[in-house]
Amino acid sequence: MKEFYKQQNINDIQKIAQKIATSLKIGDVLLLNGDLGAGKTTFTRFLVSFLGGKNIRVSSPTFTIMQIYKGDELKFPIYHFDAYRLEGIGGMDQGYEDYIYGDGISIIEWGEFIKDILPDKYISITFKRSEQNTEQDLEEFRDVEIEINNLN
Ligand SMILES: Nc1ncnc2c1ncn2[C@@H]1O[C@H](COP(=O)(O)OP(=O)(O)OP(=O)(O)O)[C@@H](O)[C@H]1O
Ligand SMILES: [Mg+2]
Repeated sequence: MKEFYKQQNINDIQKIAQKIATSLKIGDVLLLNGDLGAGKTTFTRFLVSFLGGKNIRVSSPTFTIMQIYKGDELKFPIYHFDAYRLEGIGGMDQGYEDYIYGDGISIIEWGEFIKDILPDKYISITFKRSEQNTEQDLEEFRDVEIEINNLN
């Protein structure tokens, strides 16, 4: 199943995150795709907030590859990956499967670099900078494609 949303401003992005947040359950894997600055971490921040983590600081965990968000306020643990630095290395033998196939949900930026450990069931969201409508368009927009693969 695929859905496509064009010209989404930051509030629209927040609404998409809210919708996705209500449908997430333990074991789900969310792949966030798009170039540097496309909005993957921004989306993660909204999502974590809607899952109860309003006080959790979500940053791009580039240096740690994975951050764990846990707490009574969250329905389940959230594993936030930024696999950017695993290009050419992959995800094997680093213990990440224990999390991805574990007791929480995984949100993965740059998942294309750890394809070797990803399940074939996932939700994939791709962010792309939209063409600006007018030259004086000061707001930034993103085109968003959501693909749900094999999930019930
Ligand atoms: N409509 C919009 N949707 C998403 N982000 C937007 C939008 N408008 C402006 N922005 C801004 O664009 C930036 C997106 O940066 P973000 O860190 O989320 O990107 P990223 O995809 O995680 O990049 P990286 O690959 O470097 O981790 C943020 O500063 C955000 O505020
Ligand atoms: Mg990021």
